[in-house]
Amino acid sequence: MPFQLSAEQEMVRLMARDFARRELEPQAAKRDKEEIFPTDVVKKMGGLGLLGMMVPSEYGGSGAGAVSYCLALQEIAFACASTAVTMSVANLSTEPLLKFGDEGQKIKYLIRLAQGELLGCFALTEPNAGSDPASLNIRAEDKGDYYLINGTKVFITHGAYADIVNLIARTGPEKGNKGLSAFIVEKGTPGFSVGTREDKMGLRASNTVELIFEDCNVPRDNLVGRTGIGFKIAMSALDSGRIGIASQALGIARACLDEAVKYARERRQFGRAIGSFQAIQWMIADMATSIEAAYLLTLSAASGKDQGVPFTKEASMAKLFASEMANKAAYLALQIHGGYGYTKDFKVERLYRDARATTIYEGTSEIQRLVIARELLRD
Ligand code: CAA
Repeated sequence: MPFQLSAEQEMVRLMARDFARRELEPQAAKRDKEEIFPTDVVKKMGGLGLLGMMVPSEYGGSGAGAVSYCLALQEIAFACASTAVTMSVANLSTEPLLKFGDEGQKIKYLIRLAQGELLGCFALTEPNAGSDPASLNIRAEDKGDYYLINGTKVFITHGAYADIVNLIARTGPEKGNKGLSAFIVEKGTPGFSVGTREDKMGLRASNTVELIFEDCNVPRDNLVGRTGIGFKIAMSALDSGRIGIASQALGIARACLDEAVKYARERRQFGRAIGSFQAIQWMIADMATSIEAAYLLTLSAASGKDQGVPFTKEASMAKLFASEMANKAAYLALQIHGGYGYTKDFKVERLYRDARATTIYEGTSEIQRLVIARELLRD
């Protein structure tokens, strides 16, 4: 095994598994059906240190590191993929402050985010700026001791429940990525409101909304880093975010395999369990093999992050491979279930819908390929 987990990493994995099976799994189908955001469960996750896993203890985090984070997130996703994206975005939301925030911002916000007292979201995407965030339009005008913000963000994960927003806005006249800056916006700031909630295909227990800024005054103290580096702040946060989504995809794929194996043992046709047919065995073997490959890619990216070496390419590879793999696993698990898998009575139906988002958000598969190719081709 190229990855020998430490005793501490194994402990984190078991703690997350126990929590997920007890607190998440029993209600996951109901929350999906009724679109219930699990506020209480997310609070408990904060208490366990699951929302600030890459933040060192001096800033309130568990300091567990990226490998432990991947292991824990997989366990959460196995039980409830919606809650896994909440966990992923909450951890991503600590990154801008951790890497670029000043001491005052760390004390005011980062510690409380890492301890789960505050929930953070990440607002980059706009109606006309998805894969190309450098073209975003939301404006933050410098007014001296505050910035005046106007514009709209879309597809913001748990935006309606977040206490603070990591906002990327345009501060300069420069075109493209150079004129962008990062801000912290608190919930309740006058001029900031939550707009339409998306009616999604999957991940229905995760809240996805529009955020609206109308003459919203944000104190100068809430500018993260300096003006003009907002794009880099966002990209570097997304490097970590992509490891999170790869882990979420892995958790979904493992759940698909689990359901497929159980069903292949139970379901009888032609007088025997369908698992005794080679067609079904090959599907299961392919799923298990690809899961293992995705696991190693994801841990490789995470361990790069833990070691402080560049991991942009590895994070994109992990996200690309794991998310595509999860969709294939969901397809095969549903196929093994036949007609029953196409009904809401079986878990694979939810897994199939949940897997679909993973190749889209935090950079589509096409964007991941672009990132990987650029890293390989540049001088
Ligand atoms: N870390 C730090 N800096 C980075 C970086 C990284 N990973 N990637 C790029 N940069 C820097 C570059 O070095 C460059 O700096 P210089 O100008 O000083 O040389 C600058 O940023 C611009 O880089 P590019 O020329 O590569 O930028 P680009 O406009 O061509 O875009 C891209 C590159 C990879 C396509 C990028 O736009 C991208 O990742 N797009 C996808 C966006 C995305 O993932 N959105 C997800 C939304 S969030 C979400 O989904 C969360 C959720 O709620 C679930």
